[in-house]
Amino acid sequence: MHRVAHRGYSAVAPENTLPALAAAVHGGATHIEFDVRTTADGVPVVIHDRTVDRTTDGSGYVWDLTLAEIRALDAGSWFSPAFRGARVPLLAEVIDLLATSPGVELLLEIKPPASAEEVERIVEMLGDLAGRTILQSFDPEVVRLARDVAPRVRRGLLRLRFEADTVPLAASLGVVCCNPSVKDVLGDPATVASLVAQGIDVMPWTANDITEWTALAEAGVAGLITDHTGELTGWAAR
Ligand code: G3P
Ligand code: CA
Repeated sequence: MHRVAHRGYSAVAPENTLPALAAAVHGGATHIEFDVRTTADGVPVVIHDRTVDRTTDGSGYVWDLTLAEIRALDAGSWFSPAFRGARVPLLAEVIDLLATSPGVELLLEIKPPASAEEVERIVEMLGDLAGRTILQSFDPEVVRLARDVAPRVRRGLLRLRFEADTVPLAASLGVVCCNPSVKDVLGDPATVASLVAQGIDVMPWTANDITEWTALAEAGVAGLITDHTGELTGWAAR
């Protein structure tokens, strides 16, 4: 089963920072999930929220801030003083880091809003890593843009919840995975089975409760997206 580090190994280091991504590799992740947004001056950076408020010492929407403004922020102290001075990473830095870990796959979430030009820039930056990257988004329009810009790069569709159109939508977008919540996987095994029957992997988020992992595996998931990479590696080995 795939072991997907959610925002890096975000239980032990500030989410979506280089220390969290490096810790995910050391923690045994097979895949590293992270979130990409674009700054006001067009540079892809790795951050989850629409604003920098929660995970840095600054404030404002990512798309209103320049790269220089975002790079001046401390993205580590909110998590622990031990990480004071950690920065919001450039996508380019993440790619450089993961290029040195050849066994690891990238689960790159593009957060909306994202224009065709922004998606194109993200894909161009992947370079040799495109072959071990899955581009995913909650927004089907962003998944369509990824398909148009880079048809050969694998795609994934994230869902807040399973709905009647989930299976046909995922199939029409040609995704390799459709990733819903843990609750929906456990509550709707028929939709999981339909996706799997179409050759579409299911990897629920955010599987942080170890007592649910066996049931999720039995439901037919291809992997688990978790903040607890190390625990998942140990559990999978047992
Ligand atoms: O990849 C699954 C997960 O990251 C989706 O939710 O809000 O953490 O981006 P979120
Ligand atoms: Ca994400």
